Amino acid sequence: MENKKELYNRLAAELKALTEGVPHVISNLANASALIWQNLDDLNWAGFYTLEDNILVLGPFQGKPACIEIPVGRGVCGTAIAQDKTILVPDVHEFPGHIACDEASRSEIVVPLHKDGRLFGVLDIDAPIPNRFDSDDQTGLETLANILEATL
Ligand code: SME
Repeated sequence: MENKKELYNRLAAELKALTEGVPHVISNLANASALIWQNLDDLNWAGFYTLEDNILVLGPFQGKPACIEIPVGRGVCGTAIAQDKTILVPDVHEFPGHIACDEASRSEIVVPLHKDGRLFGVLDIDAPIPNRFDSDDQTGLETLANILEATL
Protein backbone atom coordinates (compact mmCIF):
# COMPACT_ATOMS: atom_id res chain seq x y z
CA MET A 1 0.00 0.00 0.00
CA GLU A 2 1.34 3.43 -1.04
CA ASN A 3 2.21 5.74 1.89
CA LYS A 4 1.60 9.49 1.78
CA LYS A 5 5.11 10.40 0.57
CA GLU A 6 4.94 7.77 -2.17
CA LEU A 7 1.51 9.08 -3.14
CA TYR A 8 2.77 12.64 -3.55
CA ASN A 9 5.91 11.46 -5.41
CA ARG A 10 3.65 9.64 -7.86
CA LEU A 11 1.35 12.65 -8.22
CA ALA A 12 4.34 14.93 -8.84
CA ALA A 13 5.53 12.63 -11.65
CA GLU A 14 2.01 12.41 -13.10
CA LEU A 15 1.51 16.19 -12.95
CA LYS A 16 4.86 16.78 -14.69
CA ALA A 17 3.89 14.31 -17.42
CA LEU A 18 0.41 15.88 -17.79
CA THR A 19 1.64 19.46 -18.05
CA GLU A 20 4.98 19.07 -19.84
CA GLY A 21 5.00 21.15 -23.01
CA VAL A 22 1.36 22.22 -22.56
CA PRO A 23 1.11 26.01 -23.02
CA HIS A 24 -2.53 26.27 -21.89
CA VAL A 25 -2.84 27.50 -18.31
CA ILE A 26 -6.54 26.67 -17.83
CA SER A 27 -5.99 23.15 -19.19
CA ASN A 28 -3.09 22.55 -16.80
CA LEU A 29 -5.01 23.85 -13.78
CA ALA A 30 -8.05 21.78 -14.76
CA ASN A 31 -5.99 18.60 -15.09
CA ALA A 32 -4.20 19.33 -11.81
CA SER A 33 -7.51 19.70 -9.96
CA ALA A 34 -8.77 16.43 -11.47
CA LEU A 35 -5.52 14.61 -10.58
CA ILE A 36 -5.75 15.76 -6.95
CA TRP A 37 -9.48 15.02 -6.73
CA GLN A 38 -9.06 11.50 -8.12
CA ASN A 39 -6.10 10.56 -5.92
CA LEU A 40 -6.65 12.10 -2.47
CA ASP A 41 -9.21 10.56 -0.11
CA ASP A 42 -11.77 12.52 1.88
CA LEU A 43 -11.99 15.73 -0.17
CA ASN A 44 -15.07 17.80 -0.94
CA TRP A 45 -13.37 20.46 -3.08
CA ALA A 46 -10.07 20.86 -4.95
CA GLY A 47 -9.23 23.70 -7.28
CA PHE A 48 -7.82 27.11 -8.02
CA TYR A 49 -8.49 30.80 -7.62
CA THR A 50 -6.48 33.25 -9.74
CA LEU A 51 -5.61 36.78 -8.70
CA GLU A 52 -7.17 39.51 -10.83
CA ASP A 53 -6.94 43.14 -9.65
CA ASN A 54 -6.57 42.16 -5.98
CA ILE A 55 -9.55 39.78 -6.12
CA LEU A 56 -9.28 36.00 -6.16
CA VAL A 57 -11.48 34.70 -8.98
CA LEU A 58 -12.75 31.12 -9.19
CA GLY A 59 -10.73 28.97 -11.58
CA PRO A 60 -10.77 25.29 -12.58
CA PHE A 61 -11.94 22.97 -9.80
CA GLN A 62 -13.64 19.73 -8.79
CA GLY A 63 -16.50 19.66 -6.29
CA LYS A 64 -19.61 21.74 -5.73
CA PRO A 65 -20.04 25.18 -7.34
CA ALA A 66 -18.13 27.72 -5.22
CA CYS A 67 -17.82 31.43 -4.37
CA ILE A 68 -16.72 33.31 -7.47
CA GLU A 69 -14.81 36.24 -5.93
CA ILE A 70 -12.75 36.40 -2.72
CA PRO A 71 -11.04 39.70 -1.79
CA VAL A 72 -7.39 39.53 -0.72
CA GLY A 73 -7.29 39.23 3.08
CA ARG A 74 -10.67 37.47 3.31
CA GLY A 75 -11.17 33.82 4.18
CA VAL A 76 -8.44 31.20 4.11
CA CYS A 77 -7.66 31.83 0.43
CA GLY A 78 -7.39 35.61 0.81
CA THR A 79 -5.24 35.15 3.93
CA ALA A 80 -2.83 32.84 2.08
CA ILE A 81 -2.42 35.56 -0.55
CA ALA A 82 -2.12 38.41 1.98
CA GLN A 83 0.57 36.51 3.91
CA ASP A 84 2.07 34.82 0.83
CA LYS A 85 2.32 31.48 2.57
CA THR A 86 0.57 28.14 2.84
CA ILE A 87 -2.31 28.16 5.33
CA LEU A 88 -3.29 24.82 6.88
CA VAL A 89 -6.56 24.93 8.81
CA PRO A 90 -7.21 21.81 10.94
CA ASP A 91 -10.76 22.95 11.80
CA VAL A 92 -12.41 25.65 9.72
CA HIS A 93 -14.85 26.40 12.56
CA GLU A 94 -11.85 27.77 14.47
CA PHE A 95 -10.64 30.01 11.61
CA PRO A 96 -12.10 33.53 11.92
CA GLY A 97 -13.47 34.66 8.57
CA HIS A 98 -13.50 31.24 6.94
CA ILE A 99 -15.76 31.40 3.86
CA ALA A 100 -18.04 28.36 3.80
CA CYS A 101 -18.72 27.74 0.12
CA ASP A 102 -19.76 24.23 1.12
CA GLU A 103 -21.03 23.73 4.66
CA ALA A 104 -19.58 20.20 4.62
CA SER A 105 -16.03 21.60 4.74
CA ARG A 106 -14.25 20.95 8.06
CA SER A 107 -10.54 21.35 7.22
CA GLU A 108 -8.69 23.15 4.46
CA ILE A 109 -5.25 23.84 2.99
CA VAL A 110 -4.41 26.74 0.69
CA VAL A 111 -1.09 27.03 -1.18
CA PRO A 112 -0.16 30.28 -2.99
CA LEU A 113 1.04 30.08 -6.61
CA HIS A 114 3.49 32.51 -8.22
CA LYS A 115 4.29 33.52 -11.76
CA ASP A 116 7.54 35.39 -12.51
CA GLY A 117 7.98 36.01 -8.77
CA ARG A 118 4.52 37.56 -8.34
CA LEU A 119 1.44 36.07 -6.74
CA PHE A 120 -0.71 34.35 -9.37
CA GLY A 121 -3.41 32.64 -7.28
CA VAL A 122 -3.99 29.73 -4.92
CA LEU A 123 -4.48 26.00 -4.85
CA ASP A 124 -7.35 25.40 -2.40
CA ILE A 125 -8.35 21.98 -1.06
CA ASP A 126 -11.23 21.29 1.34
CA ALA A 127 -12.10 18.16 3.31
CA PRO A 128 -15.33 17.14 5.04
CA ILE A 129 -13.41 15.89 8.11
CA PRO A 130 -11.30 17.86 10.64
CA ASN A 131 -7.50 17.46 10.60
CA ARG A 132 -7.46 16.01 7.07
CA PHE A 133 -4.14 17.66 6.14
CA ASP A 134 -0.75 17.33 7.86
CA SER A 135 2.78 18.51 7.14
CA ASP A 136 3.32 15.68 4.61
CA ASP A 137 0.27 16.94 2.70
CA GLN A 138 1.62 20.47 2.89
CA THR A 139 5.03 19.41 1.52
CA GLY A 140 3.44 17.27 -1.19
CA LEU A 141 0.98 19.94 -2.29
CA GLU A 142 3.66 22.64 -2.29
CA THR A 143 5.68 20.40 -4.61
CA LEU A 144 2.67 20.09 -6.93
CA ALA A 145 2.26 23.89 -6.78
CA ASN A 146 5.93 24.33 -7.77
CA ILE A 147 5.43 22.05 -10.76
CA LEU A 148 2.44 24.13 -11.86
CA GLU A 149 4.32 27.40 -11.33
CA ALA A 150 6.89 26.21 -13.87
CA THR A 151 4.06 25.99 -16.44
CA LEU A 152 2.51 29.43 -15.84
N1 SME B 1 -13.06 28.30 2.22
C1 SME B 1 -12.41 29.23 1.35
C2 SME B 1 -13.32 29.70 0.25
C3 SME B 1 -13.21 28.92 -1.00
S1 SME B 1 -14.01 27.45 -0.93
O1 SME B 1 -13.47 26.62 0.14
C4 SME B 1 -13.94 26.64 -2.36
C5 SME B 1 -11.89 30.41 2.13
O2 SME B 1 -12.22 30.56 3.31
O3 SME B 1 -11.15 31.20 1.55
